[in-house]
Amino acid sequence: MEPPTRDGLRKGALPLSTPQPLAQVNEDAFDRLSLPLPEFNRVLGGGIVPGSLVLLGGEPGIGKSTLLLQVASFVSEREGLVLYVSGEESAQQMGLRARRLGVKGKQLYVLTETSLEAIIAQVEQLKPRMLIVDSIQTVYCAGLTSGAGSVSQVREAGSRLMHVAKGEDLPIFIVGHVTKAGAIAGPKVLEHMVDTVLYLEGDRFHTYRLLRSVKNRFGPTPEVGVFEMGSEGMVEVPNPSETFLAERLPHASGSAIAVTMEGTRPLLIEVQALASTTSFGQPRRTSNGVDFNRLLLITAVLSRRVGIRLYDQDLFVNVVGGLRVEEPAVDLAVATAIVSSTQDKPVAADLALVGEVGLSGELRSVSHLEARLNEATKLGFKRCLVPRSIHHEPPTRDGLEVIGARSVQEAVQIALGHRGVV
Ligand SMILES: Nc1ncnc2c1ncn2[C@@H]1O[C@H](COP(=O)(O)OP(=O)(O)OP(=O)(O)O)[C@@H](O)[C@H]1O
Ligand SMILES: [Mg+2]
Repeated sequence: MEPPTRDGLRKGALPLSTPQPLAQVNEDAFDRLSLPLPEFNRVLGGGIVPGSLVLLGGEPGIGKSTLLLQVASFVSEREGLVLYVSGEESAQQMGLRARRLGVKGKQLYVLTETSLEAIIAQVEQLKPRMLIVDSIQTVYCAGLTSGAGSVSQVREAGSRLMHVAKGEDLPIFIVGHVTKAGAIAGPKVLEHMVDTVLYLEGDRFHTYRLLRSVKNRFGPTPEVGVFEMGSEGMVEVPNPSETFLAERLPHASGSAIAVTMEGTRPLLIEVQALASTTSFGQPRRTSNGVDFNRLLLITAVLSRRVGIRLYDQDLFVNVVGGLRVEEPAVDLAVATAIVSSTQDKPVAADLALVGEVGLSGELRSVSHLEARLNEATKLGFKRCLVPRSIHHEPPTRDGLEVIGARSVQEAVQIALGHRGVV
């Protein structure tokens, strides 16, 4: 049998490799490019890893191109040539955006091209320090008959770019469109193939954007970075909890503070609820930022286990700042905000709440309690309501009174300062 030969990157061959003892593999390969964007570095696990292929997904218009152009600019200023391939926008459009964002970088090159072969030829010629392909759905490979954006094209383009990344030790960022359901369009295999998958999320009507890593071969997941999108592009939000609570009315009824975990980062958020008497027919339930089925469960528990009359109340629940929270640990804050609104009694202003609500009306413990309590302390909260377990006493700490409650009923009584039953 003939020995395998390296037949060029263009055909998508892997660079020839020989077995080596794992213990002797040197670690220098992890010489990450650290950008002056700590939130971005953090999501990548400490910076851009040379030779890594990163997929960035997100809704249309959420700011993917903006963020990558800023990243490209930083890398070009520090490291050298960066090639930004755009299959969606003209060079003029890119130029316009670059001027708006104040991106100058003389080493930042734009290429409007959709042929993968042409893109790879440019990479071989220009030898950039970083490549951005915006987006993978616009790229086509000459050998395939199907159109750009089809499953086979996306898979082939992804795999060839992977080989370029590994072969040239070149970090490559590719933008992926998302489907209506929010997943990255194209074959799931694309997500398996790449080293890192990032999602840029946010509510279009708000300026906050969350950059979330859902897979990362070079760092912990999930990890989250918080940005604010303005006319100068993405600006980091160094203290998101403070920002999300900035407009809070401390003594308004129907507002409760929860400590949620976004990846490994604790975040204080405000949950608001408004109950108003149903005018006709069925009571309405509207949730914004909280899972709708979770809201139905909480209302059922409040009706059956706590005895709150909700059958003739329309309920609106909202998480401030356009955030979407999926964690059950915010259940208690949602429940408390609802009761607070129905009774028009404010939740104590210095109180944060954490806990999952069970169907029996019990409070269930949550993960990362220490980190959550630390964040609440940092933001100046004096008390935190947490689930009390028969196995563990709630942790104690200076400056924060940690109050344990077994049931939603007990927790709501404490939060609203009731003496008797709710
Ligand atoms: N002059 C401006 N000032 C402030 N914000 C702007 C301005 N122009 C555009 N934007 C914002 O930038 C967003 C588009 O950003 P960007 O093109 O980076 O998004 P994208 O995720 O790449 O979109 P697509 O999926 O279409 O490629 C717009 O939705 C708008 O909110
Ligand atoms: Mg774009």
